[in-house]
Amino acid sequence: MTSNIGLKLVDRDEGGVDRAFRADVLDGMSEAQKAVPARWLYDDAGSQLFEDITRIPEYYPTRAETEILERRGEEFARLIGPGRAVVEFGSGSSVKTPLLLRAINPAAYVPLDISGDFLRAAADDLAVKFPELPVHPVEADFMRKVALPDGVAGMPKLGFFPGSTIGNMVARTAVDLLRTMRETLGETARLLIGMDLIKDREVLEAAYDDAAGVTAQFNLNLARRINRELAGTIPVEDLRHVARWNDDFARIEMHLEAKREMEFEIAGRGFTMARGETIHTENSHKFDQRSSATLLLAGGWTPMHRWTDAAGRFSLILAEASIPRSAP
Ligand code: AVI
Repeated sequence: MTSNIGLKLVDRDEGGVDRAFRADVLDGMSEAQKAVPARWLYDDAGSQLFEDITRIPEYYPTRAETEILERRGEEFARLIGPGRAVVEFGSGSSVKTPLLLRAINPAAYVPLDISGDFLRAAADDLAVKFPELPVHPVEADFMRKVALPDGVAGMPKLGFFPGSTIGNMVARTAVDLLRTMRETLGETARLLIGMDLIKDREVLEAAYDDAAGVTAQFNLNLARRINRELAGTIPVEDLRHVARWNDDFARIEMHLEAKREMEFEIAGRGFTMARGETIHTENSHKFDQRSSATLLLAGGWTPMHRWTDAAGRFSLILAEASIPRSAP
């Protein structure tokens, strides 16, 4: 199955528990370095908190990427051209997507998202802003190949993957996704992808540990979600949000650190944490010109053009589907 249109994407047991969530949490909490995949940060409360993060002063990526989209419209129009079907991986935010669509005059817009609610909200919003533009929302897990709607068959595609969400994946997963995107979009496709840049540790750590504590709440919400959905007894008030730069892997890591030794249950299973022990909850990889190019090439995309904001904090890269060929 390549598309999940119209299907219920969440597999729940008789008690209404999301089976994949429970399996990921129980497996990850049993590892020597406890870890829960970052995708579980985004329940309704987590998604709202992430929206709040995009507006905090220390979190520069959203503003920096929006600045590029606002200023470089003419160059996008020249390099991308009109008549493409824009396929956005994740529902379009009400700010960034219209900037791109206005600049390039596309033939259609296809938002892909695993959450039907976000998808419909994004599609309705876009339909009002661009009444002439055919919008074909697809409810799907874009980590797998997606069958695009018949309405865009034959049109050249532009994949749009803003926000540096690619940075939330380890290299292997990121390469798999880039390859899958290429399969979804076809041989004549281009990809416009946001990739956050390596910069001073202080700036990065502040962006992920803001003074108002919004990112801390975003991280702690994961423990609250585990308690709520998986009959957990984690003493959330005794966990601390930690954001630290890991220079070896060029990434910000988010952890939940135990302020004291603790015991708790999740879905009937017992766990302990020593004081100072952490649950690793997210990676946010940062790139430079070479590492971003290497990642894209490994995923089957050749970089064509690269833009940064005026302060050089964030990059937006246009790439074309590479023709697979053997060396040299
Ligand atoms: C969604 N993603 C690109 C964000 C990031 O910057 O890695 C998630 C985030 N986590 C904490 N703050 C923002």
